[in-house]
Amino acid sequence: MEDTAIHKFDFALINEYFAGLERQGPGSPEATIRALGFIGNLSNEAKIADLGCGTGSQTMVLAQNTKGTITALDLFPGSIDKLNVNAEKLGLQNRVKGVAGSMDNLPFQNDEFELIWSEGAIANIGFEKGLNYWKDFLKKDGYIAITYESWFTAERPAEIEKWWVEAVPEIGTIGHNISIMQETGYVPVAAFTLPEKCWIDNYFIPQKTRQEEFLKKYAGDKTVETFIGFLRREAELYAKYKQYYGYVFYIGKKYK
Ligand SMILES: C[S@@+](CC[C@H](N)C(=O)[O-])C[C@H]1O[C@@H](n2cnc3c(N)ncnc32)[C@H](O)[C@@H]1O
Repeated sequence: MEDTAIHKFDFALINEYFAGLERQGPGSPEATIRALGFIGNLSNEAKIADLGCGTGSQTMVLAQNTKGTITALDLFPGSIDKLNVNAEKLGLQNRVKGVAGSMDNLPFQNDEFELIWSEGAIANIGFEKGLNYWKDFLKKDGYIAITYESWFTAERPAEIEKWWVEAVPEIGTIGHNISIMQETGYVPVAAFTLPEKCWIDNYFIPQKTRQEEFLKKYAGDKTVETFIGFLRREAELYAKYKQYYGYVFYIGKKYK
């Protein structure tokens, strides 16, 4: 198939597919815990927001490794229902609450949170825009921790450049993204790349069975075939070009 971007597919289709997976983007409990290690002490009263939480794999890790309360928000209500069921199963329902909503129109108060978390989701509203907008909801000295698609090198082959610029027009290098973080009012505290395992073992491999299930359920549906073709191409391109890009965890502290 031709290169395209995931946001060109139907929202309901994307979400039905991803809600059937434990993770909806690359990541791991180890990476979430490593990022948490850069954040100052969070008390029992600390309030945390997890934006673009999906079904909440990182939300549960956050809850198990902090003492405060977490509000997890995602546009897709189906993912939020799953997250709330998972929180209940793990006995975390008193500290974790999933709400449906959009990360560019947050139902929160200014200065409400000690920590804003977001894995694999900020590109949906834009890195700079998200950092700027979300800052108002953080208390002074509050922290932000986000993963975001980033270039590892100053240059890369045209094929992968085209793919990512279509998917994430703002995509930049790690240095560029750290500068944006600083310019939007945060002290950059740390940045680290997510290991390949986060993509291959936790994102691409679990999708193989899901893709077979989906093709069977929607046999003959051209849109579904194109969608699965897109996802398979994403995995092939990662195998071919993974030295040029990946997700980076950016951790910052609000200073203004
Ligand atoms: C790549 S997934 C990451 C999910 C999860 N954080 C993870 O790492 O497994 C991106 C998530 O962002 C959500 N999303 C996209 N646009 C959004 C918006 N405007 N507001 C809130 N969530 C949004 C999607 O529904 C999806 O769950």
